[in-house]
Amino acid sequence: MKNIVILISGRGSNMQALLEAQLPCRIAAVISNRADAEGLDIAKEHGVSTAVVSHRDYADRGSFDIALTKAIDAYRPDFVVLAGFMRILTADFVAHYRGRLVNIHPSLLPSYGGLNTHARALHDGVKIHGCTVHFVTPDLDHGPIIIQAAVPVLYHDTEQTLAARVLNEEHRIYPQAMRWLCKGQIELNESGKVVFHNRKQTSHTLFSPGLE
Ligand code: GAR
Repeated sequence: MKNIVILISGRGSNMQALLEAQLPCRIAAVISNRADAEGLDIAKEHGVSTAVVSHRDYADRGSFDIALTKAIDAYRPDFVVLAGFMRILTADFVAHYRGRLVNIHPSLLPSYGGLNTHARALHDGVKIHGCTVHFVTPDLDHGPIIIQAAVPVLYHDTEQTLAARVLNEEHRIYPQAMRWLCKGQIELNESGKVVFHNRKQTSHTLFSPGLE
């Protein structure tokens, strides 16, 4: 059975979705860069080992990433899962976990990398927004896409209502992506493309606003 380590920085709702999804893998540990991350308590309630590697204890990004790597590798993970882990990672860290490091981002990448994705989508008036699970590369919020979910942006949406609609789908696509990875149904090939061994697909069009 594959082993995974989840990295968080805060609330931990995506981590919770993964813990509760009965994935075909062992969740070896949850590691946070903040001792006050609410998600740490949720992990403990689920009986999962937790650890804190505080970025504040390190002089620079490089030394933090080395300490983080050491903490992660103690659990010998097959996959490292970023679930609201809000630190920029060094190229060495990313290279160390090539093909084994995944992230969830609250937008349809490559649109809206970075912060405040929902506010920026509302400001631009896009009619479809969503979330993405992808392999991590050294470019922030870029990298080969595993799965995306699209949601409509509704006329009366606020940042909060749109965020909630997207988060609901994050909680569905992250467990799906991890199920595929843990079962060996997808992988990152040498050319940096996501290869699907199980190629079942559906094809529905999302219109937003809907057609009359
Ligand atoms: C999630 O919306 C996740 O997509 C986002 O942080 C939130 C964490 O919530 N991640 C990023 O923006 C990464 N660039 P959670 O702690 O409740 O899972």
